[in-house]
Amino acid sequence: MSDKPRWEIIHGDSLTVLESFPPGAFDAVITDPPYASGGRTQAEKSKATAKKYSSMGGNAPPDFDGDAKDQRSWTRWAAEWLYLARRAAKPGAPVCMFIDWRQLPCASDALQWAGWIWRGIAVWDKGNSRPQKGRFRQQAEYIVWGSNGDMPVSRPVPCLPGVFKYGNPQNRIHLTEKPLQLMQDLVKITEPGGHILDPFAGSGTTVLAAVKEGYDATGIEVTDVYADLAKKRLESELDAA
Ligand SMILES: C[S@@+](CC[C@H](N)C(=O)[O-])C[C@H]1O[C@@H](n2cnc3c(N)ncnc32)[C@H](O)[C@@H]1O
Repeated sequence: MSDKPRWEIIHGDSLTVLESFPPGAFDAVITDPPYASGGRTQAEKSKATAKKYSSMGGNAPPDFDGDAKDQRSWTRWAAEWLYLARRAAKPGAPVCMFIDWRQLPCASDALQWAGWIWRGIAVWDKGNSRPQKGRFRQQAEYIVWGSNGDMPVSRPVPCLPGVFKYGNPQNRIHLTEKPLQLMQDLVKITEPGGHILDPFAGSGTTVLAAVKEGYDATGIEVTDVYADLAKKRLESELDAA
């Protein structure tokens, strides 16, 4: 039998798929959900994701689903999947959820409504954002994190940084793809050899990072084109290795 880390991408809606997992199946939930952000008004938020998150016009990566909710609906929905994800997580398991400044208050509310203990916010400093005269640059995204109940300091996990400085990936295949090295740093919140769940896998960056760091990983992705793309990316980067 091989002791290589195992991975899978499940094509489906995380609300349905999460219900199918046995309680306590995962050692961590690390994810980057659709923010349903990218604008101040509902009309701006309802635009196609490529219009909201890319300036590449026809060369932008494909659109993805689930990004047009208003703030109240997003918060209710997030509380629901976070609840189901907590049920699928072991006692003490960490949770990390990416979010931007607009949705940050909703994200910490949803996390707590779902029963996780909110433990803090780490910062992804992207560095290269658009300067705004008379305003602060919006050069960061955030990682709201917590745990499923008590998280003893005796866990075999090192001290981790609170700020991660990485530029956006070059040649992105997903509109909101996260840097691989950022995800490799982040998954280390999980106990060595654990099984990581990402309910919003996109192009599979979390799953790829987890496996590279020696964890098993399960990703869920609803958008057909990205479920397919993530599987192909992981097959070519991991199974070929
Ligand atoms: C912010 S992106 C994740 C990007 C990913 N971190 C990467 O590096 O490629 C969020 C993903 O969640 C997916 N998604 C949206 N609603 C979903 C749902 N209900 N169930 C599963 N996936 C969903 C979208 O299709 C999108 O690809």
